[in-house]
Amino acid sequence: MKIAILKTSADIGAYAADIIENRISHGRMKVLGVATGSSPLPVYKELAARRLEGLSAVSAFALDEYVGLSPSHPESYHAVINREVTKPLGLDPERVHVPDGTATDLEGACAGYEERITAFGGIDLQLLGIGSTGHIGFNEPTSSLSSRTRIKTLTPETRKDNARFFTSPDEVPTHCLTQGLGTIMDAKEVVLIAQGRSKAKAIAGLIEGPVSVMCPGSVLQMHPQATVILDEEAASELQGAAYYKYVAENLPLWQR
Ligand code: GLP
Repeated sequence: MKIAILKTSADIGAYAADIIENRISHGRMKVLGVATGSSPLPVYKELAARRLEGLSAVSAFALDEYVGLSPSHPESYHAVINREVTKPLGLDPERVHVPDGTATDLEGACAGYEERITAFGGIDLQLLGIGSTGHIGFNEPTSSLSSRTRIKTLTPETRKDNARFFTSPDEVPTHCLTQGLGTIMDAKEVVLIAQGRSKAKAIAGLIEGPVSVMCPGSVLQMHPQATVILDEEAASELQGAAYYKYVAENLPLWQR
């Protein structure tokens, strides 16, 4: 796992955008996994500013969606991805996929989503944020480490965290469809971003805790190509923070 602890949100955006730009320029970015939430916003901002030509040919798969919100609801992840990712990055909307949380057959929609990811050749790079519960996507604690796209029940804590996007906390849906931890682990590369003190505990669990269903993000310790990009606050509970900075300052030649 590669760990970068950076000063500003703009630094974080540039660091992740460099990775994505590099993969595009080497022809290694056909399918980008995109995430909602505030964490990846600096990355989208930076990518939009760079106006990368190669992006228009990239297909995208979102991590998750609320159950029961129409795609036209402004807080459905269909709408959020369209507003924050598809439009500013100039992606082709036909190539941007989000799980269908309004399907009559939700299980069928999940299975179909997995098939679509496979049909597109799998995800080359999955962007991720992390919830205060340690969830990635919407894989709440006790999610099976090998889970696939499926229906999940949101924890009260996650519903509370996400209530800021709705007019009342009761409006936050109780269920969602999310790529599973196994689905996320199948991405060839993952880049997780976390900012702020509220993420420090989850980040400590992800990087230094045991691999455990109680901190679903910790499964990324088993990923062969994972990068975690943090600000100082999100890194504030890491026992090894000084070492991670030392490693970043003394990268071996082949990683520079
Ligand atoms: C939601 C999303 C996650 C995201 C998390 C954190 O629950 N399903 O994918 O990582 O929120 O969001 P934020 O970055 O806004 O804190």
